[in-house]
Amino acid sequence: MRVYFDNAATTPLDPDVMKEMYKVMESQFGNPSSIHAHGREARTLIERSRKTIAGLLHTSPAEIFFTSSGTEADNTAIRCGIIDHKITHAITSPTEHHAVLHTLEAMEKSGVIKLSLVNIDSKGVIDYDHLETLLKENERSFVSLMHANNEIGTLSDMERIGDLCETYNAIYHCDTVQTMGHYQHDLSKLKAHFLVCAAHKLHGPKGVGFLHINHKIKIKPFIYGGAQERNMRGGTENIYGIVGLAKSLELAYSEMEQHQNHIQGLKSYMMEQLIAHVPGVSFNGETDAEKSLYTVLNVSFPEMEMSDMLLFNLDIAGISASGGSACSSGSDIGSHVLTAIGASSSRPSVRFSFSKYNTKEEVDFVVAKVRELCAVNV
Ligand SMILES: Cc1ncc(COP(=O)(O)O)c(C=O)c1O
Repeated sequence: MRVYFDNAATTPLDPDVMKEMYKVMESQFGNPSSIHAHGREARTLIERSRKTIAGLLHTSPAEIFFTSSGTEADNTAIRCGIIDHKITHAITSPTEHHAVLHTLEAMEKSGVIKLSLVNIDSKGVIDYDHLETLLKENERSFVSLMHANNEIGTLSDMERIGDLCETYNAIYHCDTVQTMGHYQHDLSKLKAHFLVCAAHKLHGPKGVGFLHINHKIKIKPFIYGGAQERNMRGGTENIYGIVGLAKSLELAYSEMEQHQNHIQGLKSYMMEQLIAHVPGVSFNGETDAEKSLYTVLNVSFPEMEMSDMLLFNLDIAGISASGGSACSSGSDIGSHVLTAIGASSSRPSVRFSFSKYNTKEEVDFVVAKVRELCAVNV
């Protein structure tokens, strides 16, 4: 048996998405920038996809810009949001994805901004009072705070951050890569200036995503070139990917509640089973269902011999998951997220992340293997 519990890294393509992409691959090869019939057909597919996405998210198609990835969308929002608006101070958290953290750190290193890190607690929850203090102290900040943490699943309160940013005239970028297609986002109500999606996290294809740019903010392109994406992103469009992205979001929305219940059920069941059968087990990050991404469970195992071999041993046992441990002092190898929440560097951690395709039998299989490994290694 081989089981896949690494859906926060990437998800398998939904067969219906594949079919939709395949249809386009078979019949469409035109360049959407060409004005002849082949080009126009390809352009129609892109604009139809944009309209589908905008409709699901309650926004205008004019606010959706296709990109090559979540990383590109994050970079565009951060670099252009800061440079084009002459921002000199940015706020983020120490648990952001590297697509955000490394971008901001590079900008700080080159002297463009001063970077402040908002305090977080031991579950990775933002200290909103500290955020307010930072916003108060700086005239117009750029705030980049993710919706759900990809390693520990802790959710932020987007409404609260949006209100604070509005009060203090800040620009708000939210990395929603882990939550697009997993929760309903009503962009007509959210106060974020920039939101991000990567199709491969919701059973869509790799190498395509989008940046939502609220009409209240204008930026210049990040990638210069042709007039694609209304002059905002040069480069011939990934038609198949874009069609697949729209289909994956459509499917995610059509069955969202059912999938949420199924996946949250699996996560709760795995927690119960681990607590019942693995002495000393605990969980990293927020576990309250209201405050935690239902697709992610980060498990902290008791100290064991050869703890750095745990993931490898799980892999050998037929389980694909990911993880690591907090960095031990003096080392920068390990998880920056677990280090930031103060997790012990001697306890191995494994992130199990779920999708609609996982089953209770697969969870039982994981728990049984984990029990064996823990019993051998104590
Ligand atoms: C929170 C978060 N942001 C950004 C990214 C980057 O997305 P992509 O893989 O499409 O570049 C990821 C991917 O793991 C992520 O989890």
